[in-house]
Amino acid sequence: MLGIIGGSGLTKLPGLSITHRQVIRTPFGEPSGPLTFGDLDGHPVVFMARHGHGHTIPPHLVNYRANLWALREQKVSHIVSVATVGGIHPDLKPGDLCVPDQIIDYTHGRETSFTEYNGKPVTHLDFTWPYCEAMRQRCMEALRGVNEPFMSGGVYGAVQGPRLETKAEIDRLARDGVDMVGMTGMPEAYLARELGLCYAAIAASVNWAAGRGDSATGISSAIIEACLADVVERLRGVLINLARMNYAAPEPESGL
Ligand code: HPA
Repeated sequence: MLGIIGGSGLTKLPGLSITHRQVIRTPFGEPSGPLTFGDLDGHPVVFMARHGHGHTIPPHLVNYRANLWALREQKVSHIVSVATVGGIHPDLKPGDLCVPDQIIDYTHGRETSFTEYNGKPVTHLDFTWPYCEAMRQRCMEALRGVNEPFMSGGVYGAVQGPRLETKAEIDRLARDGVDMVGMTGMPEAYLARELGLCYAAIAASVNWAAGRGDSATGISSAIIEACLADVVERLRGVLINLARMNYAAPEPESGL
């Protein structure tokens, strides 16, 4: 089944007819909130608001392990994360969409693995391509299906937050090859890999990153808000297209 993780601006899923909500407990603590079960255009999906329903959990305090564990417990096999980002690449102006294919992780102090010291031999999972390619292809097909232009591939830089970056930090990320900057992409993508979940992201630029474009002298929260509302509206059809696809067969992704 398809799981949708909604980031900033997507605490509720427009068009979702809800059947029930369920609080899930996990060995890793509480998820961000109850899972919402329902269907989009008649197709079952599970929705998780990453920052909680009232958008009260900041990116560095999200319990990523509990969220992914809960989704898998409920038979979710594929996940699309809707992620808002600041645009660094010239093609990622506010309002532009991207299906990234690479990640650089700048976060720290987060729980990055389900493996804890348990006396078992250490395993090192392959993460050369951090997103599930089969799910990336589905995301791109869903975007094409509603004629939404998007950038295919790009490097997502995951930063700690909750503050926005300095201009010098964004210049450094640009030198590193980062195309977009967000606060939640890691460890989420890696934890999904550990659980063998087929995970990809649709990144929506909601502002130029600090020091770029109209964020040259600062980032306007009014621009972010306006952009978010527009993006959420445009993504509704994309998520419906994704929900229509068949998730019965597992993808050959490796997990632990
Ligand atoms: N920086 C980090 N995360 C973000 C940004 C940004 O500019 N915009 C949306 N999420």
